[in-house]
Amino acid sequence: FAAVDVIRAKRDGARLRDEQIAWVVDAYTRGAVAEEQMAALAMAIFLRGMDAAETATWTGAMIDSGERLALATTRPTVDKHSTGGVGDKITLPLAPLVAACGAAVPQLSGRGLGHTGGTLDKLESIPGWRASLSATEIAAQLEEVGAVVCAATPSLAPADRKLYALRDVTGTVESVPLIASSIMSKKIAEGSAALVLDVKVGSGAFMKTLGQARELARALVDIGAAHGVATTALLTDMSAPLGAAVGNAVEVAEAVDVLRGGGPADVVELTLALAREMLQLAGLGEQDPARVLASGEAYETWRRMIRAQGGDPDAELPKPAHVHVVESPESGTLARLDAYAVGVAAWRLGAGRARKEDPVQAAAGIRCLAKPGKRVERGQPLLELHTDTPDAVAPALEALTGAWAVAERDDAPAAGGEGIV
Ligand code: URA
Repeated sequence: FAAVDVIRAKRDGARLRDEQIAWVVDAYTRGAVAEEQMAALAMAIFLRGMDAAETATWTGAMIDSGERLALATTRPTVDKHSTGGVGDKITLPLAPLVAACGAAVPQLSGRGLGHTGGTLDKLESIPGWRASLSATEIAAQLEEVGAVVCAATPSLAPADRKLYALRDVTGTVESVPLIASSIMSKKIAEGSAALVLDVKVGSGAFMKTLGQARELARALVDIGAAHGVATTALLTDMSAPLGAAVGNAVEVAEAVDVLRGGGPADVVELTLALAREMLQLAGLGEQDPARVLASGEAYETWRRMIRAQGGDPDAELPKPAHVHVVESPESGTLARLDAYAVGVAAWRLGAGRARKEDPVQAAAGIRCLAKPGKRVERGQPLLELHTDTPDAVAPALEALTGAWAVAERDDAPAAGGEGIV
């Protein structure tokens, strides 16, 4: 094969043959196909697309670029993946909850980039907690505790790591077949027998419209089916932040509230909906996650999961050096609270990073003290901005300009908010 022939074929709108896909992905991973050639091919795929069969083959080639985790556990394995949002801490209560119901949850997660937070960044606000585990440690913890949330090992779909970095700088991220194959290559290589996808829709999500989110969900589920992984998808709202907390330690605290029987209603509702879906796929549909959550068993599993990775579940979480409160200028109804703007503001406060190698502030973030659709009084605190770097408050407030509105009439329509689409 010659890379230029593969590029020309896709440029002219042809389907790529299985052998072409296997060769080009393998050769790129080995460095035998140059970055500029893969950049051209990624753009051709971006413009011409790939059908379901091509996308499944492309995913298989990315899986084969590395190793598959061998999960020798006596429990049924099931994982969840969210396409990313603002305040999306659902993995934190969900993994121990589903484990407490009898499944094994191997959740290999990522870090945040841009306005969406990363699960590992959040968990690292717990003193002592360690994200990197070896394959042997993952397998042992999965058997003993039932849940592992850790960093992906370097041997997992290395082709994706290289290609994702290239797409990031060549304007080829927002392609359904490339996004779907990227997500699924990592999830399938992780070795879980079943997978539930939480595809986010709205301003704070990758996919801004229901039509786009449906298309991505369909592509993801088709890839799972083609590779023998039982896969389903929920489309859920991301027009307003999920729960009240957006950031790192603040999201851990909110997840712990949920595990102890409290927490915001939308976080509890989505956690239970995803748990039911995961248990169904794992053959444990008779388990009642609401009962297990209420019993405290999920909280106990959380504590064991944190301890197994060196964390102290009883340690105090980091507190911000500076808190700035935004008050409601008038009485009325909070008509809107835009997820994207809140995500950007939390990022500017230090919860996220501008470059992959930057550190994050554990204590940075935002607490949203009122939900869209709720009555608020003049002078009532609406948002609490947390940071260790007070200079970050002004840029965060700038990001929030126009992001929320208090309507005078109580019957103002609430944009977004709760619910599963
Ligand atoms: N997340 C991924 O893992 N890959 C993409 O391409 C987009 C989001």
